[in-house]
Amino acid sequence: MDELADMRGKTCLITGGSAGIGKHTAILLARLGARVILVTRPSERASRAQNEVIRKSRSDAVDLIPADLSLMEDVRRLADEVTRRYSRLDVLINNAAVFKVSRVITPEGLELMFATNYLAPFLLTLRLVDLLKASSDGQVINLTAPSTDSIDFDNLQGEKGFFPLQTFSRTKMALLLFTLELARRVAGTPVRVNALYPGLARTRLMREASFKVRVFIYMSAYTTPHAAQAVLALLQTPAHELETPNGGFYYEGKELALDAYVLDREVQDHLWEISETMTGVSFNSGIFSHTGSIRNP
Ligand SMILES: NC(=O)c1ccc[n+]([C@@H]2O[C@H](COP(=O)([O-])OP(=O)(O)OC[C@H]3O[C@@H](n4cnc5c(N)ncnc54)[C@H](OP(=O)(O)O)[C@@H]3O)[C@@H](O)[C@H]2O)c1
Repeated sequence: MDELADMRGKTCLITGGSAGIGKHTAILLARLGARVILVTRPSERASRAQNEVIRKSRSDAVDLIPADLSLMEDVRRLADEVTRRYSRLDVLINNAAVFKVSRVITPEGLELMFATNYLAPFLLTLRLVDLLKASSDGQVINLTAPSTDSIDFDNLQGEKGFFPLQTFSRTKMALLLFTLELARRVAGTPVRVNALYPGLARTRLMREASFKVRVFIYMSAYTTPHAAQAVLALLQTPAHELETPNGGFYYEGKELALDAYVLDREVQDHLWEISETMTGVSFNSGIFSHTGSIRNP
């Protein structure tokens, strides 16, 4: 896609807007006239990022909502605030992610990568589905990567063995499985959900990885604005031009083939059930309800 369309009148929320692909995507969205809700960890970097997005886009329709997405309590508070402040959400981009070389446990007892990269988007998206339905064309884009690591349900949070790259990769697999299951559950509503591999980009994401991994990424990666452009391209491709408008996995405008494991509905269902239990939300036949608070089985 060469030309990007005007986005005035659209409200777009992007998580992880303080750096990398998220920040650049926010700049593009704001430049196109969208109201952008930046969700970032509460820090000085967050307000610096908001100022940068405002300056570079020449738009002041850039709101900042601080939230630590590794904490489900914060995710719930974030969803409540968004629901209170906005009457409609047109775009939700689940972009925030973290990579750690050691197993970090959050104050809520969850492994940090699992909580931030997978459980937070699960909870946030379900809590915002009604707001997305208020748009005539609500879209969710989940940023992930082509992972080949299947989910180990007996070691979901690395409790029985922690391998950083594998744990990270599994969070990306989980996000992809979630995308496909959610796509089925919102079918027939105005909401659609797709996954995107933005390509390798030179960001701070893998800063804790080994020197070899970092050199590989540096040598093979695109610039961050290139990846942000890929997000916009998917967002603006009309549904009828996408091979799979709801529940697809895209890279550079093309649908990526999914292997049998990703398409396995039993795996998708099982992960969904566990995630509902852990976050205390339930979503059946397109109806969302909140059943309780966090449980770590
Ligand atoms: N870069 C790549 O090559 C590549 C390839 C495939 C997929 N992706 C995906 O693209 C997305 C963006 O990655 P990136 O490369 O742009 O990474 P990045 O530069 O490290 O940015 C990640 C963003 O997530 C935020 N974040 C991390 N933990 C958070 C938390 N607990 N609460 C709120 N925000 C949090 C970070 O905020 P802080 O500033 O507070 O840390 C930062 O704004 C990720 O989902 C990644 O998996 C990236």
